[in-house]
Amino acid sequence: MIKLIDPFARPISYLRVSVTDRCDFRCTYCMAEHMQFLPKKDLLTLEELDRLCSTFIRLGVEKLRITGGEPLVRRDIMTFFKTIARHLDTGALKELTLTTNGSQLARFAGELAAIGIRRVNVSLDTLDAAKFQAITRWGRLPQVLEGIEAARKSGLRVKINTVALKGFNEEELFPLLDWCASEDHDLTFIEVMPMGEMGEEMRLDQYWPLKDLRARLAERFTLTDLAERSGGPARYVRIEETGQKVGFITPLTHNFCESCNRVRVTCTGELFMCLGQEDNADLRAPLRASPEDTLLEQAIRAAISRKPKGHDFDYSRQSVKGQMSRHMSHTGG
Ligand code: 5AD
Ligand code: SF4
Repeated sequence: MIKLIDPFARPISYLRVSVTDRCDFRCTYCMAEHMQFLPKKDLLTLEELDRLCSTFIRLGVEKLRITGGEPLVRRDIMTFFKTIARHLDTGALKELTLTTNGSQLARFAGELAAIGIRRVNVSLDTLDAAKFQAITRWGRLPQVLEGIEAARKSGLRVKINTVALKGFNEEELFPLLDWCASEDHDLTFIEVMPMGEMGEEMRLDQYWPLKDLRARLAERFTLTDLAERSGGPARYVRIEETGQKVGFITPLTHNFCESCNRVRVTCTGELFMCLGQEDNADLRAPLRASPEDTLLEQAIRAAISRKPKGHDFDYSRQSVKGQMSRHMSHTGG
């Protein structure tokens, strides 16, 4: 079996799969309040998701991240997690993780840990209940904090992902950091991305460059850059005073494309070779055309041979150029 390698000699070892476009929250930077969700027949079934992921694993994917929307609101999703976890047992898959808003973790953390998941990423932008409700529109902070606590009690390592939003959570930089230190959670800040139907105004208004956030941290702490990379956009620093590791995800910069080892599949089976570009390949048609995985594998190989060298976001142009017309909940965070 020849493993997937793209035209720039980058092995494709990391796959992110969105299993639903639905979510029980409506974060303002992610969704409109009244979303038109996809009809069920358009979504890959749980069996199709298993075939898709298993094929990628056979082709060299070692790390699989399940995203949404909110993956844990998909009906019966634990069935998928339990079956795909067989690849952890064989060693073909090194890591199975998920990105979640935490709302269902109190219910599922135990089962997730039991099947071999070791880490979860939980999106949390504020520790203030009123602000939490404002940004998520439908979310309740106590429910998420309970979920995070359940995850920790189940032995899952928790990474908090915080979208940096000017005028929203600027004042919470240090409280968030302290809270993560005291709870022993990792923390990563994410620069807000131009996604979906967010108005141009709101985006530019709320844009808080991580370079500025980092400078704020450096006023109080000694930061040491860490060499460690995940093949994705995250960069890490260590805060010498606390020993904490803090990540920064700046999806708008080009600084990670050369080591990019990842591709994404949407909940309808579109394979995106690059987060910042529209080119994609339909994997649902080959999945549905045959119960064998030959067509699927051919479609994946053909798509990977088109993986671009780099992406195209650029705020400095302050125009819609390079702006994504798809929602994050569609492509997966
Ligand atoms: N910019 C940056 N991050 C976003 N997310 C959703 N929409 C955006 C956006 N426009 C993040 C969520 C979560 C992950 C799923 O994606 O906060 O951490
Ligand atoms: Fe749901 Fe995550 Fe989007 Fe918020 S950012 S609406 S939690 S998918």
